[in-house]
Amino acid sequence: MEKKSNEGSTMIKNEEKIVLKNIEDSKKLAEKLSLLLKKGDVVCLEGSIGAGKTTLTSFLLHELGVEGDINSPTFAIVLPYEGRDFKIFHSDVYRIEDEEELYNIGFEDYFRDDSLILIEWADTIIDYLREISDRLIRINIEASHDESRNVTIKWYDDRSVTC
Ligand SMILES: Nc1ncnc2c1ncn2[C@@H]1O[C@H](COP(=O)(O)OP(=O)(O)O)[C@@H](O)[C@H]1O
Ligand SMILES: [Mg+2]
Repeated sequence: MEKKSNEGSTMIKNEEKIVLKNIEDSKKLAEKLSLLLKKGDVVCLEGSIGAGKTTLTSFLLHELGVEGDINSPTFAIVLPYEGRDFKIFHSDVYRIEDEEELYNIGFEDYFRDDSLILIEWADTIIDYLREISDRLIRINIEASHDESRNVTIKWYDDRSVTC
């Protein structure tokens, strides 16, 4: 098997910017993303507290076929779900302080070709994520002065929600 190069793992092929006017727009974005996401992808949700990471993630899990309630993984760090087409791991790394903790919970085992992982607060461990995966899709959400949200999506390939 070919060894991953650092260059490859930091590659961004496509970057797009979207404005979400309200929660309904978060739901629409989740619908579009759900049609594009594939098993093996690592979806990084980034942005400060209150930005809308959990809101978008919950919509996305439902769009991907997860039924029932979605619990916060803040304490469990990773929670598994059965999606329509593949298994999904929902993670929140807010409480993670160093890479050793990730090692101790076997975090790398959740990066699998047959499932998808969604990681809230991914920006706090981004160097680690870049090292272990070359399939990062980075979704940054920023609240603006009004209710709206500015979203930047960086894809490692040429997928896009805007075209
Ligand atoms: N697109 C949006 N437009 C307006 N309000 C939003 C949007 N997304 C989320 N919110 C609201 O912002 C608050 C924080 O959202 P949440 O998803 O919990 O943020 P985070 O997980 O990033 O801390 C919630 O009250 C939520 O209803
Ligand atoms: Mg949250």
